[in-house]
Amino acid sequence: MLSEIDRVFVQDHLAHPRTSELSEVERQQYCETIKQLLKEKNAVLVAHYYTDPIVQALAEETGGCVADSLEMARFGRDHPARVLVVAGVRFMGETAKILTPDKTVVMPTLEATCSLDIGCPISEFSAFCDQHPDRTVVVYANTSAAVKARADWVVTSSCALNIVEHLMDEGKKLIWAPDKHLGDYVQRETGADMLLWQGSCIVHEEFKARGIQDLKAVYPDALVLVHPESPRAVIELADVVGSTSQLINAVKTRGEKRFIVATDQGIFYKMQKMAPDKALIIAPTAGEGATCRSCANCPWMAMNALQTVAETLKAGEAGEWLGNEVFVESELAVRAMLPLQRMLDFTATTS
Ligand code: 13P
Ligand code: SF4
Repeated sequence: MLSEIDRVFVQDHLAHPRTSELSEVERQQYCETIKQLLKEKNAVLVAHYYTDPIVQALAEETGGCVADSLEMARFGRDHPARVLVVAGVRFMGETAKILTPDKTVVMPTLEATCSLDIGCPISEFSAFCDQHPDRTVVVYANTSAAVKARADWVVTSSCALNIVEHLMDEGKKLIWAPDKHLGDYVQRETGADMLLWQGSCIVHEEFKARGIQDLKAVYPDALVLVHPESPRAVIELADVVGSTSQLINAVKTRGEKRFIVATDQGIFYKMQKMAPDKALIIAPTAGEGATCRSCANCPWMAMNALQTVAETLKAGEAGEWLGNEVFVESELAVRAMLPLQRMLDFTATTS
Protein backbone atom coordinates (compact mmCIF):
# COMPACT_ATOMS: atom_id res chain seq x y z
CA MET A 1 0.00 0.00 0.00
CA LEU A 2 2.66 2.52 0.98
CA SER A 3 4.76 1.98 -2.12
CA GLU A 4 1.64 2.54 -4.23
CA ILE A 5 1.00 5.82 -2.44
CA ASP A 6 4.61 6.86 -2.88
CA ARG A 7 4.15 6.28 -6.59
CA VAL A 8 1.34 8.80 -6.80
CA PHE A 9 3.02 11.57 -4.87
CA VAL A 10 3.19 14.72 -6.84
CA GLN A 11 6.94 15.03 -6.50
CA ASP A 12 7.14 12.03 -8.77
CA HIS A 13 5.03 13.82 -11.34
CA LEU A 14 7.16 16.94 -11.17
CA ALA A 15 10.32 14.92 -11.64
CA HIS A 16 8.96 13.60 -14.93
CA PRO A 17 7.66 16.57 -16.89
CA ARG A 18 5.79 15.84 -20.08
CA THR A 19 8.59 16.99 -22.35
CA SER A 20 10.72 14.29 -20.75
CA GLU A 21 11.97 13.01 -24.07
CA LEU A 22 14.03 16.21 -24.43
CA SER A 23 17.49 16.52 -22.93
CA GLU A 24 18.16 19.44 -20.59
CA VAL A 25 20.15 21.18 -23.34
CA GLU A 26 17.31 20.77 -25.85
CA ARG A 27 14.83 22.11 -23.32
CA GLN A 28 16.96 25.18 -22.77
CA GLN A 29 17.25 25.70 -26.51
CA TYR A 30 13.49 25.48 -27.00
CA CYS A 31 12.91 27.91 -24.14
CA GLU A 32 15.39 30.43 -25.56
CA THR A 33 13.86 30.15 -29.05
CA ILE A 34 10.36 30.68 -27.68
CA LYS A 35 11.42 33.68 -25.59
CA GLN A 36 13.08 35.27 -28.61
CA LEU A 37 10.14 34.65 -30.93
CA LEU A 38 7.58 35.93 -28.42
CA LYS A 39 9.48 39.23 -28.34
CA GLU A 40 9.92 39.46 -32.10
CA LYS A 41 6.26 38.81 -32.80
CA ASN A 42 4.83 40.96 -30.03
CA ALA A 43 3.23 37.81 -28.68
CA VAL A 44 2.27 36.65 -25.21
CA LEU A 45 1.88 33.10 -23.90
CA VAL A 46 -1.39 32.39 -22.08
CA ALA A 47 -1.39 28.92 -20.49
CA HIS A 48 -3.86 26.83 -18.54
CA TYR A 49 -2.93 25.16 -15.23
CA TYR A 50 -3.22 21.73 -16.85
CA THR A 51 -0.48 22.27 -19.42
CA ASP A 52 3.05 20.94 -19.15
CA PRO A 53 4.80 22.53 -16.12
CA ILE A 54 7.60 23.73 -18.42
CA VAL A 55 5.10 25.60 -20.58
CA GLN A 56 3.55 27.13 -17.44
CA ALA A 57 6.95 28.23 -16.16
CA LEU A 58 7.76 29.79 -19.52
CA ALA A 59 4.48 31.70 -19.60
CA GLU A 60 5.27 33.14 -16.17
CA GLU A 61 8.86 33.95 -17.04
CA THR A 62 7.92 35.79 -20.23
CA GLY A 63 5.21 38.02 -18.73
CA GLY A 64 2.31 35.88 -19.89
CA CYS A 65 -0.10 34.16 -17.57
CA VAL A 66 -1.01 30.77 -16.14
CA ALA A 67 -4.63 30.70 -15.10
CA ASP A 68 -8.06 29.07 -15.12
CA SER A 69 -10.28 29.44 -18.16
CA LEU A 70 -12.00 32.60 -16.90
CA GLU A 71 -8.76 34.40 -16.06
CA MET A 72 -7.15 33.31 -19.35
CA ALA A 73 -10.01 34.98 -21.20
CA ARG A 74 -9.64 38.20 -19.20
CA PHE A 75 -5.85 38.28 -19.51
CA GLY A 76 -5.91 37.77 -23.29
CA ARG A 77 -8.53 40.47 -23.69
CA ASP A 78 -6.63 43.04 -21.62
CA HIS A 79 -3.01 42.36 -22.65
CA PRO A 80 -1.57 44.75 -25.27
CA ALA A 81 0.28 42.04 -27.29
CA ARG A 82 -0.73 41.68 -30.94
CA VAL A 83 -0.54 37.89 -30.90
CA LEU A 84 -1.98 35.60 -28.21
CA VAL A 85 -0.42 32.14 -28.01
CA VAL A 86 -3.05 30.13 -26.15
CA ALA A 87 -1.69 26.94 -24.59
CA GLY A 88 -4.82 25.09 -23.60
CA VAL A 89 -7.69 23.53 -25.51
CA ARG A 90 -9.62 24.73 -28.51
CA PHE A 91 -12.48 26.48 -26.72
CA MET A 92 -9.95 28.66 -24.89
CA GLY A 93 -8.45 29.83 -28.19
CA GLU A 94 -11.91 30.45 -29.62
CA THR A 95 -12.94 32.45 -26.56
CA ALA A 96 -9.80 34.57 -26.88
CA LYS A 97 -10.58 35.23 -30.56
CA ILE A 98 -14.22 36.12 -29.87
CA LEU A 99 -13.19 38.60 -27.17
CA THR A 100 -10.37 40.13 -29.23
CA PRO A 101 -11.18 39.72 -32.91
CA ASP A 102 -8.45 42.19 -33.92
CA LYS A 103 -5.67 40.10 -32.35
CA THR A 104 -4.04 37.09 -33.94
CA VAL A 105 -4.80 34.06 -31.78
CA VAL A 106 -2.71 30.94 -32.32
CA MET A 107 -2.55 27.58 -30.57
CA PRO A 108 0.20 24.94 -30.49
CA THR A 109 -2.35 22.68 -32.15
CA LEU A 110 -5.96 23.15 -33.15
CA GLU A 111 -6.46 19.44 -32.52
CA ALA A 112 -6.51 20.06 -28.77
CA THR A 113 -10.18 19.70 -28.05
CA CYS A 114 -12.21 18.65 -24.98
CA SER A 115 -14.63 15.78 -24.41
CA LEU A 116 -17.28 18.25 -23.21
CA ASP A 117 -17.03 20.22 -26.45
CA ILE A 118 -17.10 17.03 -28.55
CA GLY A 119 -20.11 15.74 -26.62
CA CYS A 120 -22.24 18.80 -27.37
CA PRO A 121 -22.66 19.18 -31.15
CA ILE A 122 -24.51 22.33 -32.14
CA SER A 123 -27.28 20.70 -34.22
CA GLU A 124 -28.44 18.35 -31.42
CA PHE A 125 -27.98 21.00 -28.77
CA SER A 126 -29.91 23.61 -30.71
CA ALA A 127 -32.78 21.15 -31.26
CA PHE A 128 -32.79 20.42 -27.50
CA CYS A 129 -33.01 24.14 -26.73
CA ASP A 130 -35.82 24.57 -29.27
CA GLN A 131 -37.87 21.99 -27.36
CA HIS A 132 -37.70 24.16 -24.22
CA PRO A 133 -38.16 27.75 -25.35
CA ASP A 134 -39.22 28.85 -21.86
CA ARG A 135 -35.78 28.03 -20.42
CA THR A 136 -32.69 30.25 -20.16
CA VAL A 137 -29.72 28.53 -21.80
CA VAL A 138 -26.55 28.37 -19.67
CA VAL A 139 -23.46 26.75 -21.16
CA TYR A 140 -20.08 25.98 -19.69
CA ALA A 141 -17.09 27.68 -21.34
CA ASN A 142 -15.92 24.22 -22.52
CA THR A 143 -18.07 24.41 -25.66
CA SER A 144 -17.74 25.46 -29.29
CA ALA A 145 -18.34 29.03 -30.44
CA ALA A 146 -21.55 27.80 -32.11
CA VAL A 147 -22.92 26.40 -28.84
CA LYS A 148 -22.02 29.64 -27.04
CA ALA A 149 -23.82 31.58 -29.78
CA ARG A 150 -26.99 29.55 -28.99
CA ALA A 151 -26.74 30.37 -25.26
CA ASP A 152 -27.99 33.18 -23.05
CA TRP A 153 -25.12 32.83 -20.56
CA VAL A 154 -21.63 31.34 -20.53
CA VAL A 155 -20.15 30.27 -17.19
CA THR A 156 -16.89 28.70 -16.00
CA SER A 157 -16.51 26.52 -12.93
CA SER A 158 -15.33 29.51 -10.92
CA CYS A 159 -18.52 31.53 -11.42
CA ALA A 160 -21.20 28.90 -12.22
CA LEU A 161 -22.74 28.85 -8.73
CA ASN A 162 -23.01 32.64 -8.47
CA ILE A 163 -24.49 33.04 -11.93
CA VAL A 164 -27.03 30.24 -11.49
CA GLU A 165 -28.06 31.69 -8.10
CA HIS A 166 -28.52 35.06 -9.77
CA LEU A 167 -30.69 33.54 -12.53
CA MET A 168 -32.70 31.62 -9.96
CA ASP A 169 -33.37 34.85 -8.05
CA GLU A 170 -34.78 36.21 -11.29
CA GLY A 171 -37.17 33.24 -11.39
CA LYS A 172 -35.50 31.61 -14.42
CA LYS A 173 -35.70 27.92 -15.30
CA LEU A 174 -32.54 26.71 -16.99
CA ILE A 175 -31.04 24.46 -19.62
CA TRP A 176 -27.51 23.50 -18.55
CA ALA A 177 -24.83 22.09 -20.87
CA PRO A 178 -22.71 20.18 -21.39
CA ASP A 179 -21.23 18.73 -18.16
CA LYS A 180 -23.75 16.56 -16.28
CA HIS A 181 -21.58 16.28 -13.15
CA LEU A 182 -20.98 20.01 -12.81
CA GLY A 183 -24.66 20.59 -13.63
CA ASP A 184 -25.73 18.09 -10.97
CA TYR A 185 -23.44 19.79 -8.43
CA VAL A 186 -24.74 23.28 -9.25
CA GLN A 187 -28.32 22.04 -9.11
CA ARG A 188 -27.81 20.47 -5.66
CA GLU A 189 -26.03 23.55 -4.30
CA THR A 190 -28.50 26.12 -5.60
CA GLY A 191 -31.80 24.20 -5.89
CA ALA A 192 -32.27 25.71 -9.37
CA ASP A 193 -34.62 24.14 -11.89
CA MET A 194 -32.12 22.81 -14.47
CA LEU A 195 -32.44 20.46 -17.42
CA LEU A 196 -29.03 18.83 -17.85
CA TRP A 197 -27.23 17.92 -21.06
CA GLN A 198 -25.46 14.59 -20.50
CA GLY A 199 -21.82 15.42 -21.34
CA SER A 200 -18.79 14.58 -19.21
CA CYS A 201 -15.07 15.18 -18.88
CA ILE A 202 -13.07 12.02 -19.56
CA VAL A 203 -10.41 13.11 -17.07
CA HIS A 204 -12.52 13.98 -14.03
CA GLU A 205 -15.03 11.20 -14.58
CA GLU A 206 -12.29 8.70 -13.77
CA PHE A 207 -11.65 9.72 -10.18
CA LYS A 208 -12.77 6.99 -7.82
CA ALA A 209 -14.57 7.60 -4.52
CA ARG A 210 -13.40 4.25 -3.17
CA GLY A 211 -9.74 5.07 -3.87
CA ILE A 212 -10.05 8.45 -2.17
CA GLN A 213 -11.62 6.79 0.89
CA ASP A 214 -8.67 4.36 1.02
CA LEU A 215 -6.21 7.26 0.87
CA LYS A 216 -8.12 9.11 3.57
CA ALA A 217 -7.81 6.04 5.78
CA VAL A 218 -4.03 6.25 5.45
CA TYR A 219 -3.92 10.06 5.68
CA PRO A 220 -6.89 11.14 7.82
CA ASP A 221 -5.33 14.62 8.18
CA ALA A 222 -5.45 15.25 4.41
CA LEU A 223 -7.93 17.73 2.94
CA VAL A 224 -9.75 16.47 -0.18
CA LEU A 225 -9.90 18.97 -3.07
CA VAL A 226 -12.19 18.18 -6.01
CA HIS A 227 -12.94 19.87 -9.32
CA PRO A 228 -16.74 19.82 -9.83
CA GLU A 229 -16.51 17.99 -13.17
CA SER A 230 -16.00 14.87 -11.03
CA PRO A 231 -18.82 12.39 -10.30
CA ARG A 232 -21.21 13.00 -7.40
CA ALA A 233 -19.71 10.25 -5.20
CA VAL A 234 -16.29 11.95 -5.46
CA ILE A 235 -17.68 15.45 -4.83
CA GLU A 236 -19.42 14.16 -1.73
CA LEU A 237 -16.02 13.28 -0.23
CA ALA A 238 -14.60 16.75 -0.89
CA ASP A 239 -13.65 19.28 1.74
CA VAL A 240 -13.29 21.89 -1.01
CA VAL A 241 -15.05 21.83 -4.40
CA GLY A 242 -13.84 24.45 -6.85
CA SER A 243 -12.39 25.61 -10.13
CA THR A 244 -8.68 25.17 -10.75
CA SER A 245 -7.82 28.57 -9.26
CA GLN A 246 -10.07 27.98 -6.26
CA LEU A 247 -8.33 24.65 -5.56
CA ILE A 248 -4.90 26.28 -5.82
CA ASN A 249 -6.05 28.96 -3.44
CA ALA A 250 -7.20 26.31 -0.95
CA VAL A 251 -3.72 24.73 -0.92
CA LYS A 252 -2.19 28.14 -0.34
CA THR A 253 -4.52 29.40 2.35
CA ARG A 254 -5.68 26.36 4.33
CA GLY A 255 -3.75 25.38 7.42
CA GLU A 256 -3.62 21.65 6.58
CA LYS A 257 -0.29 20.23 5.43
CA ARG A 258 -1.55 17.43 3.15
CA PHE A 259 -4.02 17.47 0.27
CA ILE A 260 -5.62 14.79 -1.90
CA VAL A 261 -6.32 16.46 -5.23
CA ALA A 262 -8.91 15.28 -7.78
CA THR A 263 -8.12 17.19 -10.95
CA ASP A 264 -5.55 17.12 -13.78
CA GLN A 265 -1.97 16.63 -12.57
CA GLY A 266 -0.72 19.72 -14.41
CA ILE A 267 -2.15 21.79 -11.55
CA PHE A 268 0.54 20.52 -9.17
CA TYR A 269 3.13 22.82 -10.71
CA LYS A 270 1.32 25.92 -9.46
CA MET A 271 0.13 24.35 -6.22
CA GLN A 272 3.62 23.30 -5.25
CA LYS A 273 5.01 26.68 -6.23
CA MET A 274 2.44 28.52 -4.14
CA ALA A 275 2.87 26.18 -1.16
CA PRO A 276 6.24 24.38 -1.31
CA ASP A 277 5.88 23.03 2.23
CA LYS A 278 2.62 21.17 1.54
CA ALA A 279 2.31 17.53 0.49
CA LEU A 280 0.09 16.90 -2.53
CA ILE A 281 -1.34 13.51 -3.44
CA ILE A 282 -3.00 12.66 -6.72
CA ALA A 283 -6.48 11.23 -6.18
CA PRO A 284 -6.71 7.69 -7.59
CA THR A 285 -8.26 7.22 -11.01
CA ALA A 286 -7.83 3.51 -11.65
CA GLY A 287 -10.52 1.22 -10.31
CA GLU A 288 -9.97 -2.36 -9.28
CA GLY A 289 -9.42 -3.27 -12.93
CA ALA A 290 -6.88 -0.41 -13.26
CA THR A 291 -8.74 0.90 -16.27
CA CYS A 292 -7.99 4.60 -16.27
CA ARG A 293 -7.61 6.06 -19.75
CA SER A 294 -6.52 9.59 -18.98
CA CYS A 295 -5.02 8.88 -15.53
CA ALA A 296 -5.46 12.51 -14.43
CA ASN A 297 -3.74 13.82 -17.55
CA CYS A 298 -5.96 15.54 -20.07
CA PRO A 299 -4.69 14.18 -23.40
CA TRP A 300 -5.60 17.39 -25.20
CA MET A 301 -3.91 19.70 -22.70
CA ALA A 302 -0.82 17.51 -23.05
CA MET A 303 -0.57 18.46 -26.72
CA ASN A 304 0.80 21.84 -25.60
CA ALA A 305 4.40 20.71 -25.28
CA LEU A 306 7.44 22.95 -25.49
CA GLN A 307 8.07 21.65 -29.01
CA THR A 308 4.60 22.53 -30.30
CA VAL A 309 4.73 26.02 -28.80
CA ALA A 310 8.09 26.61 -30.55
CA GLU A 311 6.85 25.20 -33.86
CA THR A 312 3.79 27.44 -33.75
CA LEU A 313 5.87 30.57 -33.27
CA LYS A 314 8.31 29.49 -35.97
CA ALA A 315 5.44 28.94 -38.41
CA GLY A 316 4.63 32.61 -37.92
CA GLU A 317 8.08 33.50 -39.26
CA ALA A 318 6.83 32.80 -42.74
CA GLY A 319 4.29 35.58 -42.26
CA GLU A 320 1.40 33.22 -41.77
CA TRP A 321 0.47 30.90 -38.97
CA LEU A 322 -0.25 27.86 -41.11
CA GLY A 323 -2.66 25.54 -39.35
CA ASN A 324 -2.25 27.15 -35.95
CA GLU A 325 -4.37 30.27 -36.19
CA VAL A 326 -7.81 30.30 -34.58
CA PHE A 327 -10.66 31.74 -36.65
CA VAL A 328 -14.25 32.21 -35.58
CA GLU A 329 -16.74 33.15 -38.27
CA SER A 330 -17.64 36.80 -37.59
CA GLU A 331 -21.44 36.45 -37.41
CA LEU A 332 -21.02 33.57 -34.96
CA ALA A 333 -18.47 35.53 -32.93
CA VAL A 334 -20.84 38.48 -32.56
CA ARG A 335 -23.58 36.19 -31.21
CA ALA A 336 -21.21 34.24 -28.93
CA MET A 337 -19.88 37.52 -27.54
CA LEU A 338 -23.22 38.34 -25.89
CA PRO A 339 -23.34 35.47 -23.34
CA LEU A 340 -19.57 35.72 -22.82
CA GLN A 341 -19.83 39.43 -22.11
CA ARG A 342 -22.67 38.76 -19.64
CA MET A 343 -20.35 36.43 -17.74
CA LEU A 344 -17.47 38.93 -17.79
CA ASP A 345 -19.69 41.81 -16.67
CA PHE A 346 -21.22 39.67 -13.91
CA THR A 347 -17.87 38.47 -12.59
CA ALA A 348 -16.39 41.98 -12.77
CA THR A 349 -18.93 43.09 -10.19
CA THR A 350 -18.83 39.97 -7.99
CA SER A 351 -15.12 39.01 -7.82
P1 13P B 1 -11.25 25.79 -15.08
O1 13P B 1 -12.30 26.71 -15.60
O2 13P B 1 -11.42 25.47 -13.64
O3 13P B 1 -9.91 26.26 -15.45
O4 13P B 1 -11.46 24.37 -15.78
C1 13P B 1 -11.31 24.18 -17.14
C2 13P B 1 -11.27 22.76 -17.45
O5 13P B 1 -11.17 22.38 -18.59
C3 13P B 1 -11.40 21.81 -16.35
O6 13P B 1 -11.30 20.52 -16.80
FE1 SF4 C 1 -12.02 19.07 -21.28
FE2 SF4 C 1 -11.73 17.51 -19.18
FE3 SF4 C 1 -9.60 18.16 -20.65
FE4 SF4 C 1 -10.80 20.00 -19.08
S1 SF4 C 1 -9.71 18.17 -18.42
S2 SF4 C 1 -10.13 20.27 -21.18
S3 SF4 C 1 -12.95 19.38 -19.28
S4 SF4 C 1 -11.37 16.94 -21.33
